[in-house]
Amino acid sequence: VAPSKVENGSPSEIIVDDFQDLISLSENDESTVTITVVGASGDLAKKKIFPALFALYYEDCLPKHFTIFGYARSNMTDAELRNMVSRTLTCRIDKRENCNEKMEEFLKRCFYHSGQYDSEEHFRDLDKKLKQHEGSRVSNRLFYLSIPPNIFLDVVKCASISSSSVNGWTRVIVEKPFGRDSDSSAALTRGLKQYLVEDQIFRIDHYLGKELVENLSVLRFSNLVFEPLWSRQYIRNVQLIFSEDFGTEGRGGYFDRYGIIRDIMQNHLLQILAIFAMETPISLEAEDIRNEKVKVLCSMKPLQLEDVVIGQYKSHTKGGTTYPAYTDDKTVPKDSLTPTFAAAALFINNARWDGVPFLMKAGKALHTKGAEIRVQFRHVPGNLYKRSFGTDLDTSTNELVIRVQPDEAIYLKINNKIPGLGMRLDRKTDVETCPRYSKEIPDAYERLLLDAIEGERRLFIRSDELDAAWELFTPLLKELEEKRIAPELYPYGSRGPVGAHYLAAKYNVRWG
Ligand code: NDP
Ligand code: BG6
Repeated sequence: VAPSKVENGSPSEIIVDDFQDLISLSENDESTVTITVVGASGDLAKKKIFPALFALYYEDCLPKHFTIFGYARSNMTDAELRNMVSRTLTCRIDKRENCNEKMEEFLKRCFYHSGQYDSEEHFRDLDKKLKQHEGSRVSNRLFYLSIPPNIFLDVVKCASISSSSVNGWTRVIVEKPFGRDSDSSAALTRGLKQYLVEDQIFRIDHYLGKELVENLSVLRFSNLVFEPLWSRQYIRNVQLIFSEDFGTEGRGGYFDRYGIIRDIMQNHLLQILAIFAMETPISLEAEDIRNEKVKVLCSMKPLQLEDVVIGQYKSHTKGGTTYPAYTDDKTVPKDSLTPTFAAAALFINNARWDGVPFLMKAGKALHTKGAEIRVQFRHVPGNLYKRSFGTDLDTSTNELVIRVQPDEAIYLKINNKIPGLGMRLDRKTDVETCPRYSKEIPDAYERLLLDAIEGERRLFIRSDELDAAWELFTPLLKELEEKRIAPELYPYGSRGPVGAHYLAAKYNVRWG
């Protein structure tokens, strides 16, 4: 479990975090950890990985002996890498502090090695440098593949062939996309397993590292009030919603090959769904949790075309500004049918969830940015207030909202009487949970990097989970592509295609 510091003056907090492993890791002078960021010159490395590593360093979460290496083809010296990295570091954790000193110390631990991704010789040179830093200590190595997926296997092959004498562990974090469909994903897994065993592979889905996704199972399994309601008996539908208020700017080349279903639904939203719907695991051990998630995925029917709506954003002018269409991106073919929006209804065929629609919606260039889970409960049977005060009385069903981002929060909408002599009801928001905490929420990459260093696999995707996820989506993706189904166009900055509302209405649902 990722460590977190306890708020002063919050005695009611239960601390389940275990610092012991960390302490023993950091106090063990005999071992060293080297984190090699492959693709260090890229967007993700700059935006997320180096800042997350710095935040971990700032919080004293990295082991005492650690070194960070950037690896990429671009020519850079150590000083140039440090300069590049320094531009992305912020004093995020405690904005009141001046972090310069810590940043300087951190940057001194960062080095760079330039090389090709398919060159054993270049990886041997890297290995020599790593060894110099490791000295006679037990050497543990973490490779972060922050590169396009077509070169994952080259890197894994070269890195494993060239680093023969590592006497600690070697782990590899693999970024998404893990293939485009069942076959390509299976081929990638087979390829990786030529050089690595499953326990060395850390497939990252950064949504699993988000605070509120972590909190989901705490909410369910440590609060008596929720778990008894968590089934078809009380829940009418569940909505998993992702939206961004910007387009694919700068990532059109990648995006056009994948589309929103592969980019967001098959991984981020499906992972949330699995945690939401799983049975109580035997324990919080990684395998127990992942076993339960796989069972959920295996209980689901592959998506049906008639339960899916796809869209693509078109140009829109608002307030004198013209926002581009998806196909205006120069790296996107003019006739692209790639969806930038999708809505889908999924079902879990087990005793707990039989008949409950799980509605997913994901889109780019929409009117808002956010990610949330909405749980709509059933109507109150024989509603006393409706019966007594007439059908005009507005009694809505309860709704639990888990806002993953921004402004993380969990709140429950409940019916209340509006104060006064009459009888009018109002559905007020209550049970806000997050504002109690003043501590900065860690970025998902911080938690996940720390877990990978500690060998905690709970928040990483196991290969059978991945297979099951692809089995649900592959037939639909093939059908969409073979039939060349045209997406419904929606204006940039709008709420998305109207078809999403018809889909929800088919299951008697209104999007929250
Ligand atoms: P980039 O396109 O920025 O690529 C990273 C580095 O890889 C580049 O700096 C470049 O380094 C090298 N590279 C790029 N294209 C090629 C190529 N065709 N052949 C060989 N090397 C290449 O990727 P990102 O940093 O955006 O993403 C890295 C990985 O993370 C990808 O798998 C992506 O799908 C995934 N990801 C990215 C997210 C993001 O927000 N950026 C979010 C989630 C996942 P050099 O030329 O110096 O060798
Ligand atoms: C990535 C997708 O996995 O998640 C991107 O490839 C998307 O298209 C991003 O923008 C969203 O992540 P976050 O953490 O900003 O919601």
